[in-house]
Amino acid sequence: MGRAFPDGFLWGGATAANQLEGAWDVDGRGPSVDDHFTGGTKDTPRTITVDIKPDLLYPNHDGIDFYHHYAEDIALFAEMGFNVFRMSISWSRIYPNGDDAQPNELGLAFYDRVFDECKKHNIEPLVTLSHYEMPYALVQKYNGWESRELIELFERYCRTVFERYQDKVKYWLTFNEINCGTMDMGNLFETSMIRGFEGPGSEAHTTYQQRYQALHHQFVASARVVKYAHEHYPQFRMGNMDCFILSYPATCDPADQLANQAKMRTMNWYCSDVQVRGYYPSYAKRFWAEHDVNLQIADGDLDDLKAGTVDFYTFSYYMSNLEGTHPDLKVTGGNMISGGVNPYLQSTDWGWQIDPDGLRFALNTIYDRYQIPLMVVENGMGALDKVEPDGSIHDQYRIDYLKSHVRAMREAVADGVDLVGYTSWGPIDLVSAGTGEMRKRYGFIYVDKHDDGTGTYKRSRKDSFYAYQKIIKSNGAEGLD
Ligand code: BG6
Repeated sequence: MGRAFPDGFLWGGATAANQLEGAWDVDGRGPSVDDHFTGGTKDTPRTITVDIKPDLLYPNHDGIDFYHHYAEDIALFAEMGFNVFRMSISWSRIYPNGDDAQPNELGLAFYDRVFDECKKHNIEPLVTLSHYEMPYALVQKYNGWESRELIELFERYCRTVFERYQDKVKYWLTFNEINCGTMDMGNLFETSMIRGFEGPGSEAHTTYQQRYQALHHQFVASARVVKYAHEHYPQFRMGNMDCFILSYPATCDPADQLANQAKMRTMNWYCSDVQVRGYYPSYAKRFWAEHDVNLQIADGDLDDLKAGTVDFYTFSYYMSNLEGTHPDLKVTGGNMISGGVNPYLQSTDWGWQIDPDGLRFALNTIYDRYQIPLMVVENGMGALDKVEPDGSIHDQYRIDYLKSHVRAMREAVADGVDLVGYTSWGPIDLVSAGTGEMRKRYGFIYVDKHDDGTGTYKRSRKDSFYAYQKIIKSNGAEGLD
């Protein structure tokens, strides 16, 4: 037996409602922003349409039909040994238009069923309140988070689900990968500032002013919700969620150190500095000034930020990149994120550089900065899987990826990091957020569903299913060689 993880460590998988539930217009659900995205590929961006066009394929409409397969799927998670399941609630299942007078009872009842099923298997739900989506009606009416109106609407939605599920859910995250809102691509998913926009997603541009103002609204909304939860439900644990894209300086040129420091601040620290510490970081003012950001901060906002700091820090970790100033730096990366090529690393088929040591480095760096419990709530390898004639899937590449990252976490724990859990992304194949593809598979469980919309939705276990099962069973002490 090697070194193990702390007792009570949370092992599981992470998903998002819009990428797996399907049933997009069932039981009173309203369309969500993602329902207006067609499928794309690594090289072809997803297209956004204002109206749903009958001749186009919108992969999120059906997802993997978790809506009707949740009991089977949760049983498979339990078989792997999960004691936590990260999922999100679809806002438009609860408030179909975002500003309805009453919540949709059928939507609320669906999540009751899901949480009850988790409980049956002793699986703790970890719920993201907004994972890359909002009711499309709020996009059209308010241009997403550009508008301050969203703060109260979000608070209302959160109060509704807190009240309803207070005895079923303890761990909550406010916004998925909130820091993607600092980038143009965040317009689509994170801040949803695409009112009236029709065309390739890569062409949906916003100004710095719009992005940082929208983030301010989200910070206030998140803080108010965290504060409310702490006051009314002391048993809740509230977390943030960041997309941690570690970057290293491309060379030892001091100019590259400064460029990377700036990159790390905007990409990785800006949002969590606010959500963990409760105030804007010292470097923000200069950044705003240099990017023509004139933040509108209402009375009371800064007090709200202070009062609503999170209890634990969570993040996704998929890759690392290089950042530098020299023109010969090559760029890799596909759909959503790109960065400088590191000659010491291999990449996935989608150009994401695989760097398990970077996860250890990230965990140590984050913990040095904040000193609160950390959780890795997304990590995984999107890959093309081959189904053998007998139905088996030998995904050794995914097993290698998993093991190397678990080993890195184990080292970080030995380094002294207070790491409390790990939820691998897409434990079951689901629709890719960035490309809308099914063939970019992350799952330990295969789903017979394809990019052209065909498939039986049949679930089957890949080799990685058993590898993860072994790791969990020994609490990370075995199965890593
Ligand atoms: C994260 C998101 O950025 O990465 C998920 O939180 C997403 O929603 C995951 O699915 C993997 O990205 P992709 O584009 O491969 O689905």
